[in-house]
Amino acid sequence: MREVIIAANWKMHTTPGDAGDLARTIAGRIREAGVTRVICPPFVCLDAVRAALAEADPEVAVGAQNVHHELAGAYTGEVAAPMLVGLAGWVIVGHSERRRDAGETDALIGRKLGRAVEAGLRPILCVGEQLAERETGRAEAVVDTQLAGALTDHDPAALQAAGFVIAYEPVWAIGTGRNAVGSDAAAMAEAIRASLGRLGWGSAAVDVPVLYGGSVTSANIGEFLAEPSIDGALVGGASLKPDEMAAIVARAALTARARAAAA
Ligand code: PGA
Repeated sequence: MREVIIAANWKMHTTPGDAGDLARTIAGRIREAGVTRVICPPFVCLDAVRAALAEADPEVAVGAQNVHHELAGAYTGEVAAPMLVGLAGWVIVGHSERRRDAGETDALIGRKLGRAVEAGLRPILCVGEQLAERETGRAEAVVDTQLAGALTDHDPAALQAAGFVIAYEPVWAIGTGRNAVGSDAAAMAEAIRASLGRLGWGSAAVDVPVLYGGSVTSANIGEFLAEPSIDGALVGGASLKPDEMAAIVARAALTARARAAAA
């Protein structure tokens, strides 16, 4: 039985002055057994969110939104994995906004994954196609290439032991209000597990949680969680709204209970 995960990506929102209050408010609204809940604020808000969640609900985890591919060195403005230890338990790598704005390649993202695992951080690897790629029938090939590029040098067993998660986020659905269709996202989740199989994961591929991300809201989360191949969501814009998070996590709890009953 795969776990059900709702991860909040706050992106470049909140300050150290207000992030703790928001995290506390959200934590109070998402007390659902069986759902793994993660809040990923900006680096400078990690400590405030960590402290707030330690009080409000220590079961809600903290994640970073990025990590550097080197351990230390002359990299002005960057944050290395060992610096996150104690502040965050999770980290997002390869988000499409970083692929776009920071030119992150699949190989670089693969190195970030390695740093995350070494530091004991639980990685969420983001993959997803552009609109033109979907419209020309290349979405699955693009995602397969992203996975192969990032995962080539990684031992599946080590990644699995680190609690590796994949988020399928079609780029055209992120922040646009235009979410993917549930059945398309489910087909991609299956394709992702088939790619893992080809990359040497064997039967472990089926155990990797695959989340959907891209304009997820309380109104459409049910469409994704109705798909057995989808294990939750990486939520951007809606994750800053306590009402939205409450409804999204409540819906996820239904899926978690149904899975537990069926197991
Ligand atoms: P969105 O962002 O929910 O605002 O579309 C999702 C993400 O980028 O992780």
